[in-house]
Amino acid sequence: MSDLQQRIEDAVQNPRNLGEMENADAVGTVGSPDCGDMLRMWVKFKEQDGVKVIDRATFQTFGCQTAIAVASVATELIAGKTVDEALALSGEELSSPLGPLPPMKIHCAQLVESALRSALAQDREGPAAPAPAQTPGLLEQFQAPQTARKVILK
Ligand code: FES
Repeated sequence: MSDLQQRIEDAVQNPRNLGEMENADAVGTVGSPDCGDMLRMWVKFKEQDGVKVIDRATFQTFGCQTAIAVASVATELIAGKTVDEALALSGEELSSPLGPLPPMKIHCAQLVESALRSALAQDREGPAAPAPAQTPGLLEQFQAPQTARKVILK
């Protein structure tokens, strides 16, 4: 097993920040046009030394193992960053703790990047965006396909 595969399996076995966040300030949901996988990310902010930073982020996904692993490391990576700092991170940077991804898996990291950008954009747009509490659960919004697909919810 390659180092990358091992790191992905480790992250999937013990994912960080998995699950819905009740009192999130922002939420972003995206689907991948490449594979149909979906990912939702919740973000909570806090004030730190007079600056608004990401307190924590969580995720849910109907996605492949790579997407789960990237979301796990990315939610750890963005804690403590400002919105601008988080927006400056590419999918490659968000997945960097796992090591370089093969070309066919780059879109998995982009799925995480897109969900993060969607959540952070919602924060910038302000109250026009639906309140996170009113956002339907990932299960309600997207019916899981009948075929065997990895579903990780908490
Ligand atoms: Fe589509 Fe990984 S195969 S997100």
